[in-house]
Amino acid sequence: MKITQTREKIEKISVDAVVIPLFQGEKLPGEVGKFNKLVSGSLDEAIKLGDFKGKLYEVTSIYTHGKALSARVFLVGAGKKADFDGRAARNVIGAAVRRGIKLGIKKAAVYLSNRIKVEEAIEGATLANYDPGIHKTKKENGSALEELILIGKADNKEIKRASVIAEATNWVRNMVHEPGNIISPKELVEEAKRLSDTYKFDLEVIDEKEASKRGFGAFAGIAKGSDEPSFLVCLNYCGGGKDTLGLVGKGITFDTGGLSLKPGNKMLEMKADMAGAAVVFGVMKIIGELKPSINVVAVCPLTENMPSGKALKPGDVVTSFAGKTIEISNMDAEGRVVVADALTYAQKLGANRIIDTGTFTGAADIVLGSEAAAVMGRPQKWVDQLMEAGKIEGERLWQLPMYEEYKTVLRSDIADVANAYVGHPKAGTIAAAMFLQEFVGEGLPWIHFEIASTAWVDEERPYIAKGTTGFGVRTLVKLIEGI
Ligand code: BES
Ligand code: MN
Ligand code: ZN
Repeated sequence: MKITQTREKIEKISVDAVVIPLFQGEKLPGEVGKFNKLVSGSLDEAIKLGDFKGKLYEVTSIYTHGKALSARVFLVGAGKKADFDGRAARNVIGAAVRRGIKLGIKKAAVYLSNRIKVEEAIEGATLANYDPGIHKTKKENGSALEELILIGKADNKEIKRASVIAEATNWVRNMVHEPGNIISPKELVEEAKRLSDTYKFDLEVIDEKEASKRGFGAFAGIAKGSDEPSFLVCLNYCGGGKDTLGLVGKGITFDTGGLSLKPGNKMLEMKADMAGAAVVFGVMKIIGELKPSINVVAVCPLTENMPSGKALKPGDVVTSFAGKTIEISNMDAEGRVVVADALTYAQKLGANRIIDTGTFTGAADIVLGSEAAAVMGRPQKWVDQLMEAGKIEGERLWQLPMYEEYKTVLRSDIADVANAYVGHPKAGTIAAAMFLQEFVGEGLPWIHFEIASTAWVDEERPYIAKGTTGFGVRTLVKLIEGI
């Protein structure tokens, strides 16, 4: 989508639809008065007659009957003024774009006024413009918007930053949508190679054999159940400064549950179980483009979780890279096992603060639905920084506690820790964090960013298609920019 900017008056712009966001109960702003007159007062009329009420994501088409250069106006509901934030701003523009796509329009202009920021308009529009039908031979979802004109003040740097972030997020969504037979660990390694070639990141690819040899026993244990080759992949960006952020992404390209096999209906969506790694790749792509002044080391364990004659069995014990022994009490709690080794490796590579992300627990979806992701970690100041980044970026994060008492879920009779507590289906999301905490050095700032609830939306929304969301990319980038 081409994005341009103009300071022209609305009446001078020629597009398929001019988008004007308005709050509930708001009168037409003075600046559109002239345009309203030009179209015989039809904008005012729609408001007065109640055809448009300003409810959040409401879109009312108003035709200009050849009296203006543009064919129509979308009055878009911005909801209650007091509730309006960065999330609403993006989604309001998204709602207009998705209506436009359904009508087949190609060119739209957004009236920013002083309520929609440039990055909000660009991100909302680009994410809404995404078509999840990546393997359809015929387009069913209308064709995408080709040009977006921002009416208002926008500098090129702002436009570039937002476009880079939004396009990379859609790239992440594509990867997560790809099924397990198209994206296996080796395809993700190819993506990592492309990132490293394009942006000159250092790349290290550790295959399964080498992983076993070097003592990544937790990762290798899960990997050996699968016929597809598995890899631990590391990308290293040196932007300068004394801090090195470790980013760890769970990359299970398909999670069958292993020998703790998932029931069919729960297995279907498990092609998305590499969303954590995809988000980390997306963040690295953005880092490559925007070049922030920080060092980042990304570590992603990439494997399938399969049942087979070679797979770990419930009760098996593996020795992690950190040296801690893990009793595998449930083969379906595989994410925390592979990520444990990746966390240790990120620390070995010099990370002095760490965030891990991925789709770890179905319990997150039970607690929060698709409305928020779960975060846990320490110290509180570091967690607050991520929460604040989420707020600005319009991604909702919710913190869960990590009380000492939850440690009981890790008890094993024969090993240092168990990966899941059998017969204790409580506090599932926290349990994963408690487990991972065992693999983070004392005092090291660390966040477990659980995106199982938000990586995927089950139903289409006014502002986004059904399917993957790329959730987490924007928040992590904002945090990185702010460090
Ligand atoms: N990948 C799943 C978690 C998941 C479930 C993500 C549904 C998105 C939607 C993870 O590997 C898993 O299976 N977790 C188990 C943990 C349990 C065995 C302790 C779960 O959530 O049931
Ligand atoms: Mn699982
Ligand atoms: Zn999983």
